[in-house]
Amino acid sequence: MSRIVYVNGSYLPEGEAQVSIFDRGFLMADGVYEVTTVIDGKLIDFDGHFARLERSLGELDIRNPMDRNAWLEVHRELVARNGVNLGMIYLQVTRGAPQDRDFVFPDPATTAPTVVLFTQSNPALVDSPKAARGIKVVTIDDLRWGRRDIKTVQLLYPSMGKMMAINQGADDAWMVQEGEVTEGTSNNAYIIKDGRIITRALSNDILHGITRAAVLRFAREAQMPVEERSFTVDEAKAADEAFVTSASTFVMPVVEIDGVALGEGKPGPLATRLREIYIEESRKAAI
Ligand code: PDD
Repeated sequence: MSRIVYVNGSYLPEGEAQVSIFDRGFLMADGVYEVTTVIDGKLIDFDGHFARLERSLGELDIRNPMDRNAWLEVHRELVARNGVNLGMIYLQVTRGAPQDRDFVFPDPATTAPTVVLFTQSNPALVDSPKAARGIKVVTIDDLRWGRRDIKTVQLLYPSMGKMMAINQGADDAWMVQEGEVTEGTSNNAYIIKDGRIITRALSNDILHGITRAAVLRFAREAQMPVEERSFTVDEAKAADEAFVTSASTFVMPVVEIDGVALGEGKPGPLATRLREIYIEESRKAAI
Protein backbone atom coordinates (compact mmCIF):
# COMPACT_ATOMS: atom_id res chain seq x y z
CA MET A 1 0.00 0.00 0.00
CA SER A 2 1.31 3.42 -0.96
CA ARG A 3 1.98 5.82 1.88
CA ILE A 4 0.21 9.11 2.32
CA VAL A 5 2.77 11.89 2.67
CA TYR A 6 2.48 15.61 3.37
CA VAL A 7 3.83 18.25 0.99
CA ASN A 8 3.20 21.98 1.42
CA GLY A 9 -0.28 21.71 2.88
CA SER A 10 -1.52 18.63 0.99
CA TYR A 11 -1.84 14.96 1.95
CA LEU A 12 -0.99 12.90 -1.13
CA PRO A 13 -0.08 9.34 -2.15
CA GLU A 14 3.74 9.22 -2.13
CA GLY A 15 3.90 8.75 -5.92
CA GLU A 16 2.06 12.02 -6.50
CA ALA A 17 4.10 14.19 -4.15
CA GLN A 18 6.39 16.67 -5.89
CA VAL A 19 9.08 19.22 -5.03
CA SER A 20 10.67 21.64 -7.51
CA ILE A 21 14.11 20.89 -8.99
CA PHE A 22 15.03 24.45 -7.88
CA ASP A 23 14.35 23.62 -4.27
CA ARG A 24 17.33 24.76 -2.19
CA GLY A 25 17.14 21.58 -0.16
CA PHE A 26 17.85 19.63 -3.34
CA LEU A 27 20.45 22.03 -4.81
CA MET A 28 22.25 23.22 -1.68
CA ALA A 29 21.22 21.09 1.31
CA ASP A 30 19.63 24.33 2.53
CA GLY A 31 17.17 22.80 4.93
CA VAL A 32 16.65 21.15 8.29
CA TYR A 33 14.90 18.03 9.47
CA GLU A 34 13.57 16.17 12.49
CA VAL A 35 12.88 12.51 13.16
CA THR A 36 10.20 11.80 15.76
CA THR A 37 9.54 8.29 17.06
CA VAL A 38 6.07 6.75 17.09
CA ILE A 39 5.28 4.12 19.73
CA ASP A 40 1.76 2.72 20.17
CA GLY A 41 0.69 5.23 17.51
CA LYS A 42 1.82 8.13 19.73
CA LEU A 43 4.64 10.67 19.44
CA ILE A 44 7.71 10.52 21.66
CA ASP A 45 9.17 13.86 22.81
CA PHE A 46 7.18 15.91 20.28
CA ASP A 47 7.85 19.15 22.14
CA GLY A 48 11.60 18.55 22.25
CA HIS A 49 11.68 17.97 18.50
CA PHE A 50 9.52 21.04 17.87
CA ALA A 51 11.82 23.21 20.02
CA ARG A 52 14.92 21.98 18.19
CA LEU A 53 13.21 22.53 14.81
CA GLU A 54 12.51 26.14 15.78
CA ARG A 55 16.10 26.60 16.85
CA SER A 56 17.56 25.03 13.68
CA LEU A 57 15.32 27.19 11.49
CA GLY A 58 16.17 30.31 13.51
CA GLU A 59 19.93 29.71 13.20
CA LEU A 60 19.53 29.54 9.39
CA ASP A 61 17.07 32.43 9.19
CA ILE A 62 14.32 30.26 7.68
CA ARG A 63 10.78 31.15 8.73
CA ASN A 64 8.97 28.41 10.64
CA PRO A 65 5.95 27.85 8.40
CA MET A 66 3.71 26.42 11.17
CA ASP A 67 3.10 26.84 14.87
CA ARG A 68 3.36 23.99 17.38
CA ASN A 69 -0.25 22.90 17.15
CA ALA A 70 -0.29 22.87 13.36
CA TRP A 71 2.87 20.71 13.35
CA LEU A 72 1.30 18.39 15.89
CA GLU A 73 -1.84 18.06 13.82
CA VAL A 74 0.12 17.11 10.68
CA HIS A 75 2.14 14.54 12.66
CA ARG A 76 -1.02 12.98 14.10
CA GLU A 77 -2.84 13.02 10.80
CA LEU A 78 0.02 11.19 9.06
CA VAL A 79 0.22 8.58 11.83
CA ALA A 80 -3.53 8.00 11.54
CA ARG A 81 -3.69 7.96 7.73
CA ASN A 82 -0.80 5.49 7.50
CA GLY A 83 -1.82 3.37 10.49
CA VAL A 84 1.64 3.67 12.05
CA ASN A 85 1.96 1.84 15.35
CA LEU A 86 5.75 1.61 15.66
CA GLY A 87 8.07 3.72 13.55
CA MET A 88 8.91 7.34 12.92
CA ILE A 89 7.92 10.56 11.23
CA TYR A 90 10.48 12.37 9.12
CA LEU A 91 9.97 16.08 8.59
CA GLN A 92 11.99 18.44 6.44
CA VAL A 93 11.78 22.19 5.96
CA THR A 94 13.89 23.85 3.28
CA ARG A 95 14.34 27.50 2.32
CA GLY A 96 12.05 26.77 -0.62
CA ALA A 97 12.29 26.89 -4.39
CA PRO A 98 13.26 30.23 -5.95
CA GLN A 99 13.07 30.78 -9.74
CA ASP A 100 16.76 30.07 -10.36
CA ARG A 101 19.83 28.66 -8.66
CA ASP A 102 21.54 31.42 -6.73
CA PHE A 103 23.86 31.42 -3.70
CA VAL A 104 22.05 34.47 -2.34
CA PHE A 105 19.06 33.57 -0.18
CA PRO A 106 15.74 34.23 -1.94
CA ASP A 107 13.40 36.88 -0.57
CA PRO A 108 11.19 35.09 1.98
CA ALA A 109 8.28 37.32 0.88
CA THR A 110 8.21 35.57 -2.50
CA THR A 111 9.76 32.16 -1.72
CA ALA A 112 7.99 30.11 0.95
CA PRO A 113 9.73 27.27 2.79
CA THR A 114 9.08 23.78 1.45
CA VAL A 115 7.58 21.37 3.97
CA VAL A 116 7.68 17.60 3.54
CA LEU A 117 6.71 14.90 6.04
CA PHE A 118 6.46 11.15 5.68
CA THR A 119 6.19 8.12 7.94
CA GLN A 120 8.29 4.97 8.19
CA SER A 121 7.02 1.88 10.01
CA ASN A 122 9.49 -0.24 11.95
CA PRO A 123 7.93 -3.18 13.80
CA ALA A 124 11.35 -4.10 15.32
CA LEU A 125 11.79 -0.68 16.93
CA VAL A 126 11.21 -1.73 20.54
CA ASP A 127 12.13 -5.42 20.46
CA SER A 128 15.22 -4.80 18.41
CA PRO A 129 17.52 -7.74 17.59
CA LYS A 130 20.37 -5.22 17.26
CA ALA A 131 19.80 -3.97 20.79
CA ALA A 132 19.86 -7.55 22.06
CA ARG A 133 23.28 -8.25 20.56
CA GLY A 134 24.74 -4.71 20.65
CA ILE A 135 26.46 -2.90 17.79
CA LYS A 136 30.07 -2.63 16.65
CA VAL A 137 31.55 0.77 15.86
CA VAL A 138 34.71 1.95 14.16
CA THR A 139 36.25 5.40 14.63
CA ILE A 140 36.71 7.86 11.76
CA ASP A 141 37.84 11.50 11.50
CA ASP A 142 35.03 13.99 12.00
CA LEU A 143 35.15 15.91 8.72
CA ARG A 144 31.79 17.68 9.06
CA TRP A 145 31.22 21.44 9.15
CA GLY A 146 31.37 23.46 12.38
CA ARG A 147 27.63 23.87 13.09
CA ARG A 148 26.62 20.32 13.91
CA ASP A 149 24.18 21.69 16.49
CA ILE A 150 21.90 22.66 13.57
CA LYS A 151 20.03 19.61 12.27
CA THR A 152 20.63 20.26 8.57
CA VAL A 153 20.04 17.82 5.73
CA GLN A 154 23.76 17.83 4.87
CA LEU A 155 24.15 14.13 5.61
CA LEU A 156 26.71 13.07 3.01
CA TYR A 157 29.64 12.65 5.40
CA PRO A 158 27.59 10.77 8.04
CA SER A 159 26.30 8.56 5.25
CA MET A 160 29.87 7.93 4.01
CA GLY A 161 30.87 7.20 7.60
CA LYS A 162 28.16 4.57 7.93
CA MET A 163 29.46 2.95 4.71
CA MET A 164 33.06 3.01 6.00
CA ALA A 165 31.79 1.11 9.05
CA ILE A 166 29.77 -1.40 7.05
CA ASN A 167 32.71 -2.02 4.71
CA GLN A 168 34.77 -2.96 7.77
CA GLY A 169 32.12 -5.35 9.07
CA ALA A 170 30.88 -2.93 11.75
CA ASP A 171 27.46 -1.32 12.23
CA ASP A 172 28.29 2.35 12.66
CA ALA A 173 31.08 4.89 13.04
CA TRP A 174 32.03 7.21 15.89
CA MET A 175 33.53 10.46 14.67
CA VAL A 176 36.69 11.78 16.26
CA GLN A 177 38.07 15.31 16.54
CA GLU A 178 41.49 15.94 18.12
CA GLY A 179 41.53 12.44 19.57
CA GLU A 180 38.11 12.83 21.22
CA VAL A 181 34.80 11.30 20.15
CA THR A 182 32.23 13.84 19.01
CA GLU A 183 29.25 11.59 18.23
CA GLY A 184 28.02 8.72 16.05
CA THR A 185 27.03 9.26 12.42
CA SER A 186 23.38 9.63 13.44
CA ASN A 187 23.41 9.36 17.22
CA ASN A 188 25.06 10.65 20.40
CA ALA A 189 27.88 8.57 21.90
CA TYR A 190 28.44 7.51 25.54
CA ILE A 191 30.81 5.37 27.56
CA ILE A 192 30.33 3.96 31.07
CA LYS A 193 33.28 3.55 33.42
CA ASP A 194 33.00 2.50 37.06
CA GLY A 195 29.24 3.17 36.97
CA ARG A 196 29.66 6.71 35.58
CA ILE A 197 27.98 7.67 32.31
CA ILE A 198 30.26 9.90 30.24
CA THR A 199 29.17 11.84 27.16
CA ARG A 200 30.49 14.91 25.36
CA ALA A 201 29.06 18.22 26.61
CA LEU A 202 26.72 20.21 24.36
CA SER A 203 28.38 22.69 21.97
CA ASN A 204 28.40 23.40 18.22
CA ASP A 205 30.45 20.19 17.81
CA ILE A 206 27.46 17.84 18.23
CA LEU A 207 23.74 17.64 17.68
CA HIS A 208 21.80 18.36 20.87
CA GLY A 209 20.02 15.03 20.91
CA ILE A 210 16.46 14.96 22.17
CA THR A 211 16.95 11.35 23.26
CA ARG A 212 20.23 12.41 24.96
CA ALA A 213 18.37 14.97 27.09
CA ALA A 214 15.75 12.41 28.14
CA VAL A 215 18.27 9.63 28.85
CA LEU A 216 20.51 11.87 30.97
CA ARG A 217 17.46 13.01 32.94
CA PHE A 218 16.35 9.40 33.53
CA ALA A 219 19.91 8.37 34.47
CA ARG A 220 20.14 11.13 37.08
CA GLU A 221 16.72 10.22 38.45
CA ALA A 222 17.93 6.61 38.77
CA GLN A 223 20.98 7.87 40.76
CA MET A 224 23.41 6.98 37.96
CA PRO A 225 26.22 9.57 37.97
CA VAL A 226 26.59 11.51 34.70
CA GLU A 227 29.69 13.36 33.47
CA GLU A 228 29.20 15.67 30.49
CA ARG A 229 32.75 15.84 29.15
CA SER A 230 34.78 14.71 26.15
CA PHE A 231 36.42 11.28 26.13
CA THR A 232 39.23 9.89 23.99
CA VAL A 233 39.15 6.83 21.77
CA ASP A 234 41.58 5.07 24.13
CA GLU A 235 39.31 5.82 27.08
CA ALA A 236 36.36 4.43 25.14
CA LYS A 237 38.19 1.20 24.33
CA ALA A 238 38.96 0.76 28.05
CA ALA A 239 35.36 1.48 29.12
CA ASP A 240 33.11 -1.07 30.84
CA GLU A 241 30.18 -0.34 28.53
CA ALA A 242 29.19 2.03 25.76
CA PHE A 243 26.02 3.01 23.95
CA VAL A 244 24.47 5.46 21.51
CA THR A 245 21.15 7.28 21.60
CA SER A 246 18.82 8.62 18.93
CA ALA A 247 15.12 8.83 18.15
CA SER A 248 15.45 5.84 15.84
CA THR A 249 17.55 3.60 18.12
CA PHE A 250 16.62 4.79 21.67
CA VAL A 251 19.50 3.48 23.83
CA MET A 252 21.58 1.09 21.70
CA PRO A 253 24.41 -0.81 23.42
CA VAL A 254 27.86 -0.71 21.75
CA VAL A 255 29.89 -3.89 22.30
CA GLU A 256 32.99 -3.27 20.20
CA ILE A 257 35.09 -0.24 19.24
CA ASP A 258 37.70 -0.60 16.44
CA GLY A 259 37.73 -4.38 16.98
CA VAL A 260 38.21 -4.09 20.77
CA ALA A 261 35.44 -5.82 22.73
CA LEU A 262 34.03 -3.90 25.71
CA GLY A 263 33.48 -5.81 28.94
CA GLU A 264 32.23 -9.26 27.99
CA GLY A 265 31.51 -8.23 24.40
CA LYS A 266 27.75 -8.14 24.97
CA PRO A 267 25.33 -5.39 26.00
CA GLY A 268 26.22 -4.18 29.48
CA PRO A 269 23.77 -4.05 32.43
CA LEU A 270 23.58 -0.26 32.73
CA ALA A 271 23.01 0.37 29.02
CA THR A 272 20.36 -2.36 29.02
CA ARG A 273 18.67 -0.86 32.07
CA LEU A 274 18.74 2.64 30.55
CA ARG A 275 17.11 1.30 27.39
CA GLU A 276 14.30 -0.24 29.44
CA ILE A 277 13.78 2.93 31.47
CA TYR A 278 13.83 5.09 28.35
CA ILE A 279 11.20 2.99 26.55
CA GLU A 280 8.99 2.71 29.63
CA GLU A 281 9.09 6.42 30.49
CA SER A 282 8.75 7.58 26.88
CA ARG A 283 5.72 5.37 26.41
CA LYS A 284 4.09 6.94 29.47
CA ALA A 285 4.77 10.49 28.26
CA ALA A 286 3.90 9.96 24.57
CA ILE A 287 1.21 12.22 23.11
N1 PDD B 1 19.67 11.36 13.87
N2 PDD B 1 23.67 13.12 16.46
C1 PDD B 1 23.44 13.09 15.14
C2 PDD B 1 24.53 13.47 14.21
C3 PDD B 1 22.17 12.71 14.64
O1 PDD B 1 21.93 12.68 13.32
C4 PDD B 1 21.16 12.33 15.57
C5 PDD B 1 19.78 11.92 15.13
C6 PDD B 1 21.46 12.37 16.95
C7 PDD B 1 20.44 12.02 18.00
O2 PDD B 1 19.44 12.99 18.09
P1 PDD B 1 17.97 12.60 18.61
O3 PDD B 1 18.16 11.92 19.90
O4 PDD B 1 17.30 13.91 18.75
O5 PDD B 1 17.36 11.71 17.55
C8 PDD B 1 22.72 12.78 17.34
C9 PDD B 1 18.36 11.03 13.34
C10 PDD B 1 17.64 10.00 14.13
C11 PDD B 1 18.49 10.67 11.86
O6 PDD B 1 19.25 11.37 11.21
O7 PDD B 1 17.82 9.77 11.39
